[in-house]
Amino acid sequence: MKITTVILAAGKGTRMRSELPKVLHKIANKPLLKHVYDLSSQLANNSIKIVYGHGGVLVKESLSELNANWVEQKQQLGTGHAVQQVADQIGDEDIVLILYGDVPLLKLNTIEQLIPLVKDKSIALLTVNLDNPTGYGRIVRDNDGKVLRIVEEKDATKDEKLITEGNTGILALQGKELKNWLSQLGNSNAQGEYYLTDVIEMAVTDGYTVNTLLVESEDEVLGVNNRQQLSHLERVYQIEQAEILMAQGVTLLDPARFDIRGEVEYLGIDITIDVNVVLEGKVSIGNNVTIGPNTIIKDSIIAEDVEILANCVIENAVVGQGSRIGPFARLRPEAVLADHVHIGNFVEIKKSTIASGSKVNHLSYIGDTTIGSQVNIGAGTITCNYDGVNKFRTIIEDGAFIGSDTQLVAPVTIGKNATIGAGSTITKDSPENQLTLSRVKQITIPSWQRPVKKGK
Ligand code: UD1
Ligand code: CA
Repeated sequence: MKITTVILAAGKGTRMRSELPKVLHKIANKPLLKHVYDLSSQLANNSIKIVYGHGGVLVKESLSELNANWVEQKQQLGTGHAVQQVADQIGDEDIVLILYGDVPLLKLNTIEQLIPLVKDKSIALLTVNLDNPTGYGRIVRDNDGKVLRIVEEKDATKDEKLITEGNTGILALQGKELKNWLSQLGNSNAQGEYYLTDVIEMAVTDGYTVNTLLVESEDEVLGVNNRQQLSHLERVYQIEQAEILMAQGVTLLDPARFDIRGEVEYLGIDITIDVNVVLEGKVSIGNNVTIGPNTIIKDSIIAEDVEILANCVIENAVVGQGSRIGPFARLRPEAVLADHVHIGNFVEIKKSTIASGSKVNHLSYIGDTTIGSQVNIGAGTITCNYDGVNKFRTIIEDGAFIGSDTQLVAPVTIGKNATIGAGSTITKDSPENQLTLSRVKQITIPSWQRPVKKGK
């Protein structure tokens, strides 16, 4: 069985009041259209067609990596007209699945239940029961409950408007029949549009049965038309992610104050996450990790037993087992920490590796540096890695002790077990096992007297 998914994404999205095409607005930092694409790409033997129009070039360019055929709908003359644009790419034997590019939270499970409802002489339609069906097409059934047609809100009679079963817009049917019915669509209706929904009545007339699947939650099929709906679905999505994590053994102190914008690649158990934590991109977190409040972790690997204290920003970094980070620490790209490393407050680490048991506890900048094991970096140490044009590396070997307020002017190497006196500016390699310092000699002027205020 071959599936052709048609994603309708040509609508204007006027109510977003945005320069950006609607389907490029994001949920969990991912464009709406990408959510729909990712869902359909999980179906086997599926070819995906995206109908784009309004602001289309931008849509196509920003999602050019998608494995889909892009089909332009030059004028938005209705959902039926949109599907007509891909008719010549649909095989007779295909099962065609129609999705909307602005309905981001649809579940795979729902589609997997819908598709088998397409059988010989029957088509499949996803419907939803609504407390307030305003704006939706209504499902008109006969007394036996058999679907007869869909009537759009603007074309509905007073009685039809009372129907609470709404059309989600999502349906599946055979390619041959779809193409036949599409070729017969007209636009004599209240909106002067070619309605895809008219296909339902044509199918019934041709003796087909409409098998419906009722979706459980309205949010799953809610389209985004304005920014209120966008933020509503963002929260729905985030709560769903939080539920998944809690089911996997993560404690979230407040699931309503936790956001995932990407994928959690690996997640251990007995992880505790405090409020306002954001996980972005691809993140892995090992067993027994605790993450303090207000921390952002992006594209990083956090090993077991790590403690991250409040207010840290960690990006593209690796944190080894049993390490302690923060509060207020920043790990920038290519910070690679081995096990039991301590990074304290107001410390920034960039493009550096730090071996087992080393500590950078206070107010330091470590960039382009290789630090060995059991090294202690004193407060206020700065690796001067940049001469304004080029960057250079600093090497600090195992067991070295760097006194506070030291500048290490790269390229420079601090030998094994070397000690650097506080307040030094180190410009030359410092030998192992010895004390090196550069410091103006301290003097005391015994006869010195404080100035006194001049009399008037
Ligand atoms: C449509 C359905 C309605 C259903 C509702 C669910 C029709 C005629 N009506 O109504 O029964 O209850 O969705 O939300 O199908 N699009 C195009 N090209 C167009 C027009 C629309 O690509 O020319 C796309 C839009 O980008 C959107 C989708 O089709 O993704 C639905 O369009 P929209 O205008 O929101 O349809 P509704 O009038 O809300
Ligand atoms: Ca809509």
